[in-house]
Amino acid sequence: MEKDRIIKRLKDIRAKDPKFSDGRIIASVSTEPFDFAVEAFKIFSDTNALDVNIFPGVKQLEREVIDWFGTILKNQMIDGYITTGGTEGNVAALFVAKKLNPGRREILVPESAHYSIKRAADLMDLKINWVKLDENFRADIGDIESKISEKTLAVVATAGTSSLGVIDPVEEINSLCDDIFFHVDAAFGGFVLPFMENAPCIDFSLENIDSITIDPHKMGMNLIPAGAILFRDKSYLKKIKISPSYLSFSTNTVSGSRSGGAIASVWATINYLGFDGYRRVVKECMENTRFLCREIDKIEGLEVVKKPDINVVGIRIRDMETAYSRLVERGWDILADSRSGSLRVVVMPHVTKPVIRNLIKDMKEILAGD
Ligand SMILES: Cc1ncc(COP(=O)(O)O)c(C=O)c1O
Repeated sequence: MEKDRIIKRLKDIRAKDPKFSDGRIIASVSTEPFDFAVEAFKIFSDTNALDVNIFPGVKQLEREVIDWFGTILKNQMIDGYITTGGTEGNVAALFVAKKLNPGRREILVPESAHYSIKRAADLMDLKINWVKLDENFRADIGDIESKISEKTLAVVATAGTSSLGVIDPVEEINSLCDDIFFHVDAAFGGFVLPFMENAPCIDFSLENIDSITIDPHKMGMNLIPAGAILFRDKSYLKKIKISPSYLSFSTNTVSGSRSGGAIASVWATINYLGFDGYRRVVKECMENTRFLCREIDKIEGLEVVKKPDINVVGIRIRDMETAYSRLVERGWDILADSRSGSLRVVVMPHVTKPVIRNLIKDMKEILAGD
């Protein structure tokens, strides 16, 4: 095929799928990346972060990104790397935990945890002891306390659950984990809570947190693929070190080849926004979240499942199945969560007040039987 035809064909296929700017994508945890972040990706698109011997510049950028996370999450001694996303981050955390304590196999996991934790457990033949949720959909601290035993390899908490954006009681769990690996999956909330006033603490100032998943390609506003896994102690990642005979160096990552482009784009986005930029982004998303909740409260037949901790809202709607299909027919990208019986809206930066007004209008019409 001619180059021009290839590009045209790709553009045609892309045009059939929605764009964030269309104002209909309201359940995604991604958003439109900045043009210059795409440009940054392009500059480094021929680099591989695995090949540190060929591309030391990528290693330097990655180190600067990890140091930035160290500042945001209050520990300059951390180590970590840029992953393909939250799934790899969670796998890497539990892999390290297993290497640190090979004699233990059981992990305590709240029922609301992202499915990647189950995936990781299956991959590593770990046994999950499910932690029930309290009336606010948070991991039940009493249940965790009663389940911790000499078999416990790790406890997992989520800071921003996938369905309702709930923050598990991280500080309280921290106080139970003196001798147990404690992993916080902040894939979503990690780019929200540190930039919010009076937010619960989920960072390394809590002395028992061993690892944190935090994803630039979610609220970090970066393009995919870019997650991150961070470890309190520089010795942790060395536990998964592998030194293939055909390489002149060793590697401490779950994935092999890694996109230097992704690392460059994260570097570009965090340096552009900085702490103040992310604070502004989070402030606006939270204002829009409160706006959405106020509008929902005004309408008979709609209800917010719980007051949101962050910019994720679960909405109960009368006759949910019909309402869900009608919203999809009207072009909304929305997701229904079976556990809470609610529709999920993620108030990302592209979910602006006009988008929310359109959604509310459609919900009202659907409830009225239009
Ligand atoms: C809390 C949480 N953890 C992990 C993940 C997995 O992230 P990814 O899809 O980037 O692998 C998600 C995805 O939405 C998530 O919400």
